[in-house]
Amino acid sequence: MHISVNVDGVTYADEVEPRLLLVHYLRERLGKTGTVVGCDTGNCGACTVHLDGHSVKSCQMLAVQANGHEVTTIEGLARDGKLHPVQEAFHSNHALQCGFCTPGMIMQAIDLLADESDPDDETVRKGLEGNLCRCTGYQNIVRAVQDAAQRMKPGAGPKQEQHSDEHVSSKQPVGGE
Ligand code: FES
Ligand code: FES
Repeated sequence: MHISVNVDGVTYADEVEPRLLLVHYLRERLGKTGTVVGCDTGNCGACTVHLDGHSVKSCQMLAVQANGHEVTTIEGLARDGKLHPVQEAFHSNHALQCGFCTPGMIMQAIDLLADESDPDDETVRKGLEGNLCRCTGYQNIVRAVQDAAQRMKPGAGPKQEQHSDEHVSSKQPVGGE
């Protein structure tokens, strides 16, 4: 099937198998290996990306379901060499150890902060309950999300997840697989 999907500000046009999962399309076709697979049950959240600005587990979606939509991965967050405030906050608060859960955790945290600009502990934990971390014990992740909330307050710098530099290119010419 033919799909056209905007990923991290670039529009890709591809032929894909109807059964191809979005996470495999991102990783194997587009080389977006920052989005990872941590389970085969839809429980871990490591594969979390944004679809039209809202978090989704990309192992639970087909690539064809992203047709005509805008996907943002962890690799699309930095702007002009500057990390997204949530990425900065995770770094500053030592909110990762092995880092495997981190891309999905950050994508989920951004979605949470879009709804809750000043979340308390419980709100952060509830908002991230679909994302599992085997290393950190979560405390520093909660701190990082709350720190990010402060960094993202008006006057603390621009909110970054916008696609102002969109352009069209096709990494995989139509007629591939
Ligand atoms: Fe998607 Fe675990 S890889 S939820
Ligand atoms: Fe290792 Fe979260 S930092 S799984």
